[in-house]
Amino acid sequence: MERREISRRTVLQGGAALAALAVIRSQAPALTAASGSGRQTAAWAVGSPLSGLDFPVRPGEEVVAWLDQPTVNPVPDIVGTLLRWEDLDSWITPNDEFFTVKHYNLPDIAAQDWRLEMHGLVAHPKTITLDDLKARPSYNVDFTLECSGNHGLPFLTGAIGNAVWTGTPLAPLLQEVGVLPEGIEVVFWGDDAGPAEVNGMTLNEQFARSMSLDDAMESGAMLCYAMNGESLPQDHGGPVRLIVPGRYGVSNVKWLTRIELLHTRYQGRFMAREYVTVREEEVDGMTVARFTSVTYDLLKSAPAKVTRLDNEYRIVGAAWGAPIARVEVQIDGGGWMPATLDEGQGAEFAWTIWSVGRGQPTAGEHTIASRAFDTAGNMQPTMEDPSIANKLTFWENNGQITRRVATGARSFPETGHTLSGAFLAFWEQHGGLAVFGYPITEEFDEESLIDGQRYRVQYFERQRFELHPENAAPWNVLLGLLGVELLPGTEPYPRAEPDSDPDCTYFDETGHNVCGRFRKYWEQHGLMIFGYPITEEMTVDGATVQYFERARFEQHPENQPPYDVLLGFLGHDALNARYGGELPPGAE
Ligand code: MTE
Repeated sequence: MERREISRRTVLQGGAALAALAVIRSQAPALTAASGSGRQTAAWAVGSPLSGLDFPVRPGEEVVAWLDQPTVNPVPDIVGTLLRWEDLDSWITPNDEFFTVKHYNLPDIAAQDWRLEMHGLVAHPKTITLDDLKARPSYNVDFTLECSGNHGLPFLTGAIGNAVWTGTPLAPLLQEVGVLPEGIEVVFWGDDAGPAEVNGMTLNEQFARSMSLDDAMESGAMLCYAMNGESLPQDHGGPVRLIVPGRYGVSNVKWLTRIELLHTRYQGRFMAREYVTVREEEVDGMTVARFTSVTYDLLKSAPAKVTRLDNEYRIVGAAWGAPIARVEVQIDGGGWMPATLDEGQGAEFAWTIWSVGRGQPTAGEHTIASRAFDTAGNMQPTMEDPSIANKLTFWENNGQITRRVATGARSFPETGHTLSGAFLAFWEQHGGLAVFGYPITEEFDEESLIDGQRYRVQYFERQRFELHPENAAPWNVLLGLLGVELLPGTEPYPRAEPDSDPDCTYFDETGHNVCGRFRKYWEQHGLMIFGYPITEEMTVDGATVQYFERARFEQHPENQPPYDVLLGFLGHDALNARYGGELPPGAE
């Protein structure tokens, strides 16, 4: 659906709602740091500004994956789809790519069976069908939904998406049911439930969130039945959910079936026990723990991706949580530079895309951070800001985000392949041509013979690189155990006795000696690159060789040092052994 065809929110009772939001935003952390030193990092000069036409993608542009990546999702039953930031290529997140969070079961409610009960302290209780709801005035709101746990846990960095939500406003319905004078709290009940341990009791608790009556009337809350022009999908709360623009995911109750008016505050799991931020503060010399309910979106931004086109780089990101005035980007800890605001500029509740282009960084690793400023002049806090640093819980982590990327590309006409990103950085830093040889494939995804997982790999004449973005450099690139894979025979070679020759080192770990020239050569790059010896020196086809976990050393007495020790073409052999000489798909 084309965003620009959809009108912005029209029904919200403007003044009151804006007043409410202004109060909220004044609670956001105030400016906490001077705006950079003004120095621009020499390593990454910035070129001409981008035009809005450059988002989402420029033809031929390549995305350079971040070196730091989220860890594996340990709770797939609760957190489903997550945004992979490198894939951000549209202002609207398509429904099937939109993140999901559900704490209990997945209710399956047919549209014709759905009913909304409005009851409790009301003069005229009401039961509403979906047809009734759709017959009421409708409107759209562009709203970026973020889970308040986003960026609070190592696996949870993509719990965010932007959609056009369609529905009918809540406030007139509350007026119609005639809230009694004692009714001060509106509870929104989901149809999902699960076991809860409370004070030693186990009970069945339903998902529910609440608002004060005033808040419910002024919040701009919507009973939403469509997302991006389609019926609200089941996993996003269909047939009907609550949407409260400007509030964290948890406020947006899915599978909404009951709205109840109470005479007192509601204190269920998702109001009072979880989604509660705890901070320690000093008050009059005493340390005080403050518990606040997670509710309002906070000002935030994140670098989304670095892209490369003909060795020109640009950085694209998003900013949200408040109307965005500007965004600044910092590379390698240098000065802050302004980003160009792109799609979503001026949106009240939806993210603004920003970009910085097109620079030519030096090859190697870089850090990229961003910070957003809202129209009220607030700045996204640093991670050291007390609002973030004094937090004892992981919710509401809107501190500035720094990501790591490796840039640069090198073409090898000798083999017709290109080396870039983390693999190039590793290749250059750990021995280059002499140790690894030329690339003999491009990067491609390969299923590991060891654990069956798919990894990004690239083959070189003498080695196979495997990308592990979850590790910090240099362990983000792991080398194939090609010596082990290609060792002649199937049995491990028997352990040897330590050699008493002082020119030898004995490795108890594998029970083998490394002596003489081989020892000297091994010491140059050691364990990380070659691994332990897994045989003694031996003769193969008339040549003296020795196998290591990741290499085969070969003696070439006809050459002058240092070329009297050469490394076997194990990358070649491994590629041949696995693919029979044909390059695998994607590797050409
Ligand atoms: N509503 C119900 N009924 N049950 C839930 O578990 N999860 C909440 C909220 N609404 C939840 C719910 C949380 S924590 C988030 S972040 C959002 O739904 C996620 O909405 P989405 O799955 O449509 O992205």
